[in-house]
Amino acid sequence: NDLTTATILIFGASGDLTARKLIPSLYDLWSEGYLCENLPIIGLARRSKTDEEFRNEQRDTVSQFTRTGTVTDEKWEQFSKRLYYREVDITDESDHVHLKDTIEAVERETLGDTISKRVAYLATAPSLFYPSVQALSRAGMVPKNTSEEWLRVVIEKPFGHDLESAQELSTQLSELLSEDQIYRIDHYLGKETVQNILLFRLSNSIFEPLLNRNHVDHVQITVAESQGIEHGRGGYYDRSGALRDVLQNHVLQLLCLIAMEPPALFSGEEIRDEKLKVLKTLAPGSKGPISDWAIAGQYTAGQSFGQAVPGYREEERVPADSRRETFVAMEVMVENWRWEGVPFYLRTGKRLPERVSEIAIQFKHPPMNLFTTVECDGDICSLVERKPNELIFRIQPKESISMKFSTKRPGMQYQIQPVTMDFAFEDAYHKSLPEAYERLLMDVLRGDSTLFTRSDELEAAWKFVTPVLDQWEKGDHTPEPYYAGTWGPSGATNLLSKSGRRWRTPSTSKKE
Ligand code: BG6
Repeated sequence: NDLTTATILIFGASGDLTARKLIPSLYDLWSEGYLCENLPIIGLARRSKTDEEFRNEQRDTVSQFTRTGTVTDEKWEQFSKRLYYREVDITDESDHVHLKDTIEAVERETLGDTISKRVAYLATAPSLFYPSVQALSRAGMVPKNTSEEWLRVVIEKPFGHDLESAQELSTQLSELLSEDQIYRIDHYLGKETVQNILLFRLSNSIFEPLLNRNHVDHVQITVAESQGIEHGRGGYYDRSGALRDVLQNHVLQLLCLIAMEPPALFSGEEIRDEKLKVLKTLAPGSKGPISDWAIAGQYTAGQSFGQAVPGYREEERVPADSRRETFVAMEVMVENWRWEGVPFYLRTGKRLPERVSEIAIQFKHPPMNLFTTVECDGDICSLVERKPNELIFRIQPKESISMKFSTKRPGMQYQIQPVTMDFAFEDAYHKSLPEAYERLLMDVLRGDSTLFTRSDELEAAWKFVTPVLDQWEKGDHTPEPYYAGTWGPSGATNLLSKSGRRWRTPSTSKKE
């Protein structure tokens, strides 16, 4: 397939992202026949290394992270012949002039000729984004994108640290690249179940008419992680925190997909225009101080799946007096015609009881309560409060869509019992879902930017969260402690209980 003919340059090829995500995803794409036969993949980094060493290193991690089955010697032999490694110091200008020759030499070796279609994946520290693009520009490798000649630059978050630094990075990049050359990755958008949200909304006529202030009581979005701070990430995380690391990007993108208006066309620009409108209408859930609608938490020592685990301040490379939040919960409003008055509750955190991401739409109750509601364990039933209808998108794991509704419990009484109808992707499609990075890399190769964040979206998201960060980072604000292995601090519970609502307890161990 000619669309996928390009050279892939990976800046920062010695890092974790390359080993755990990029090369395994490229391998899986290749295994499933999505990459053209000779497509060269060139790892670039400062360390000196031979092609052979690079290939051997990658084999170990590909074997560990591949989705498509055992990496046999034969398959690896075929795949790895397209992997190259070249030593480059991006911070050294004298290296820049040689960059093009180096890359063209590999292209000639693999393809017999040079090729002017290139993807530059910046898997580097953010401080090297601009220098890497400068290097490409100085090397004469930034053409005006046409169908014959193009450069697509992929960058990974963090895109800035707050509104000001995000704007500065955008300005720098826009000096050398046009917006259609920049692909900002939010890997949540590459997840099958996240893409499904919009397709589900727009291809079924029975749900969309209900998704508005007339029928929806509130929406809960949860991105929960059971792990703490992974090895080597303490330094990054302590500069970042849950709000920057996950809420500002992944959670707000999920919110956009649920709240946005249908686009007139299913195209990258139109979809991103609609998401931008949501981000621009985001407002605090309360007119009071920030603490009334945004809660920060930090885990202390506790239990994770029955094992004792340390608190955040005891994690490697985290200062013992850190005031960085590892949990955030927010009540926000989307102030537009459709959603006026409907709270969206958002939460994300580390060391919660489960790794689970989901969106739950809770509908309003019928106007009158004519029946008693019971919940039963076998024949033993107890009276409970009536339960609302819920539509739940389980993003991961056990990807599914569930609908909760009430039925008459068989018997001589008019009793209502809540039940769940479940659709599980695995049961229906009997195959593993593609990894987010596979889909995103594929889209970069075919020039489809629908699943990438545009600079104006990014700016609007930063604009919303920056006042909260400012408040938390100055003065003596301290996040509320919560035990590792629990659902966050009591402030998060109060955020809902003040209006008589309650967080769901998503569980991956039971069916909905
Ligand atoms: C990343 C964050 O963007 O998302 C990590 O930097 C977090 O801290 C991860 O663990 C969560 O992604 P996923 O796909 O595992 O839910």
